[in-house]
Amino acid sequence: MDMNKNNALNRQRTVYVHGAAGIRQTLPFDYARLEQLAKDKMSPEAWAYIAGGAGRESTMTANTGGFDRLHIVPRMLRNVEQRDTSTNLFGQLLPAPFFLAPIGVLEMAHPAADLAVAKAAAALGIPYIFSNQASVPMETCAHEMGDAPRFFQLYWSRSDELVASFLQRATACRCSGIVVTLDTTMLGWRPRDLDMASLPFLKGMGIAQYTSDPVFRKIMEQPDTAPRPKSAITWEAIHTLFSATRKYPGSFWENLRNGVGLRAVRTFIGLYSRPNITWADLPFLRKHTDLPIILKGILHPDDARKALDYGVDGIYISNHGGRQVDGAIGAIEALPGIAEAVRGKVPILIDSGFRGGADVFKALARGATAVGIGRPYCYALALNGQAGVEELLTNWMADFELTMGLAGCKNVDEVRNTNLSEGR
Ligand code: FNR
Ligand code: LAC
Repeated sequence: MDMNKNNALNRQRTVYVHGAAGIRQTLPFDYARLEQLAKDKMSPEAWAYIAGGAGRESTMTANTGGFDRLHIVPRMLRNVEQRDTSTNLFGQLLPAPFFLAPIGVLEMAHPAADLAVAKAAAALGIPYIFSNQASVPMETCAHEMGDAPRFFQLYWSRSDELVASFLQRATACRCSGIVVTLDTTMLGWRPRDLDMASLPFLKGMGIAQYTSDPVFRKIMEQPDTAPRPKSAITWEAIHTLFSATRKYPGSFWENLRNGVGLRAVRTFIGLYSRPNITWADLPFLRKHTDLPIILKGILHPDDARKALDYGVDGIYISNHGGRQVDGAIGAIEALPGIAEAVRGKVPILIDSGFRGGADVFKALARGATAVGIGRPYCYALALNGQAGVEELLTNWMADFELTMGLAGCKNVDEVRNTNLSEGR
């Protein structure tokens, strides 16, 4: 694996030399343009789901706005000819201090979905966190990734047996850790999806980890006693039935005859999450996996302290990209208090609002170990599949390396020892 030493200038050269020959890169480098082109390419439902957030989306504004109030103060004459962006995370050496955050229902962005992302991540050695709501089973992705680093993100469902099965599968897939997402015990109030009356899971999208699971399949066979909401038989309802049927593994006609597509959706809805989980439930996870446990969605220093008391192996600061609590604290704003609480005892991961190399630099300077890329890679995937995600990651590596070097730092440790200027 190339550990990204002094690659940025090559990347620039490639872009400009190709440009001189009339060949353009497939992705725009400007983030607003990347978003716009992805929007033009995606269905209105996909755009609403991926780009949207909770309520007035003020948390999304806080996430990106937080970076505008932090300033890098570059230092001069420090010999930055040899630049090394590699970093260690849970015993693995990574080429750069970032990873791909877990994102569900990627089939809305591109038919190759998680598989394209897994291959792109593996090609560059950037860790990929498989989503619990993936469109492709983790085994299929892991199979394509060789020894490249990956994690599994868990939603704590109502069935302990299903949770245990997911954990066991993640170990078999040679994941390096379990990321337990705590902030989405219920989906947030999301006006864009509500306006379109569109929830992908009802069409059988984003439930591939479940339909590929032996325990889930067993649960599906149990008699279904939940009351059924009445809905009219419309073309749209038939479309939903066909979609759910098509998404279920196996033959479409057989699935249609057995009604397994809709049964899988109904079983999923009944099981998806357990809003009653508490700290006291954490030992259950410890009992069922030897992998490092990382808690995602931590925003309060007291929760970080509590997590350490419970012996977790990593803290993952996130507000879910502003999709859960409107008006929540921006992730980068939450970081210093949590870094203070954690005091280097475990790695601190962070995501929500990161849009380029300078944002990564600022998070490391404030005490983060590694940064999660979210929506940007969905847009790269939508525009150009696996190649798009590879291109995006290559650009992020170059951008971060140049920001680091031009700020006067040769490596990630020096970035971590940098002070930022704070203000308007
Ligand atoms: C997410 N996120 C998410 N998180 C998680 O733990 N499991 C999941 O299945 C998903 N699914 C998901 C779908 C979509 C469409 C988005 C945009 C986000 C949250 C994700 O891991 C991450 O926290 C945010 O994406 C970070 O915010 P930005 O950088 O994308 O704005
Ligand atoms: C979401 C869930 C899948 O944010 O995490 O939509």
